[in-house]
Amino acid sequence: ETSNIQHDAVDKGNFRHFMLKEIFEQPSVVADTLEGRIVDNQVYIETLGDNAAKVFEQTEALQIIACGTSYNAALVAKYWVEHYLNIPCLVEIASEYRYRKTATIPNSLFITISQSGETADTLAALSKAKGEGYLASLTVCNSPASSMVRESDFTLLTRAGTEIGVASTKAFTAQLVSLLLLTISIGKAKGLDKETEHNIVKALEHLPSEIQKALDQAGDIDKLSEAFAEKHHTLFLGRGQQYPIAMEAALKLKEVSYIHAEAYAAGELKHGPLALIDKDMPTVVVAPNDNLLEKLKSNIEEVRSRGGSLFVFADKSAKIQGSDGITVFPVDSSYNVTAPIVYTIPLQLLSYYVAVIKGTDVDQPRNLAKSVTVE
Ligand code: AGP
Repeated sequence: ETSNIQHDAVDKGNFRHFMLKEIFEQPSVVADTLEGRIVDNQVYIETLGDNAAKVFEQTEALQIIACGTSYNAALVAKYWVEHYLNIPCLVEIASEYRYRKTATIPNSLFITISQSGETADTLAALSKAKGEGYLASLTVCNSPASSMVRESDFTLLTRAGTEIGVASTKAFTAQLVSLLLLTISIGKAKGLDKETEHNIVKALEHLPSEIQKALDQAGDIDKLSEAFAEKHHTLFLGRGQQYPIAMEAALKLKEVSYIHAEAYAAGELKHGPLALIDKDMPTVVVAPNDNLLEKLKSNIEEVRSRGGSLFVFADKSAKIQGSDGITVFPVDSSYNVTAPIVYTIPLQLLSYYVAVIKGTDVDQPRNLAKSVTVE
């Protein structure tokens, strides 16, 4: 299997930067990543085949290893895997895993996630894992000819095409889509019910158009970005499966705009970060209409009552009112399971437009390399 060459034309087209072009490619990247993998409302990943199904059947836990944005994708997968499959899913940064004495849960599957397939720490973790008693290794990777693909027992290719911007955008959404497909594939081997599978498939099929709707709001995000450009810090809050999306948003803002950003699980506010809140510290909240909405609303109030300015990315149905200190940005997402992917889009756009105002080298931020092949 090769990656879709449609996206590989390495020019910016009408876009000012590769990052913006790659953000706008996401509806087609998601469609490509799903292509041929959903047949009659069911997930079937040909390249994984029967051998993988046998391994999945025996799998009682997952250990996922990655770095940076790929690590944030793994954290979202943890919520999906534990929710739908009811098996433990451990997630660790490669540079930590590779150097410590680790313990392996019996019958677990070792998974690496990498855009490049060449990240030194992730490769070293994969090589370490070979002596640690895992059932098998699987890589979720965007580069078909990479070391990670060569060294792994199984490969699930994310079909994002070549990503030029150092800040990963389309590779992240392709990873999330692939990880959701993988969750279903493992689930099928372990008796996941058809109805759950159909519901997730339906959400995935609507994803390209939901992403497109989010992209159509780019002009509004551009305006919103002005509120951040003069700031030195930003706090991102999320709960549940949106917490890693807040982490990814903070990483993006740091990388391309050089603004210090931190992400917290909203429930942790009172345990420290609330002390940071003042008029110079904007807080971005990811607020889909899920079972944690009411809790999140009280977190929003905690920040507002201390004079902080809030920017809330909220589902229309969440009924969060804009008021003094609270700017609400509506996001349209009809399926809870894929909401993390939809909410990613406006947050990517936000970092991009802030970086443009600040005049940074968006596609090639200072001090960073696209692929970290040395420690
Ligand atoms: C993402 O915006 C970063 N540039 C970086 O964190 C990246 O995701 C990380 O280096 C991992 O790379 P990989 O996916 O190619 O392994």
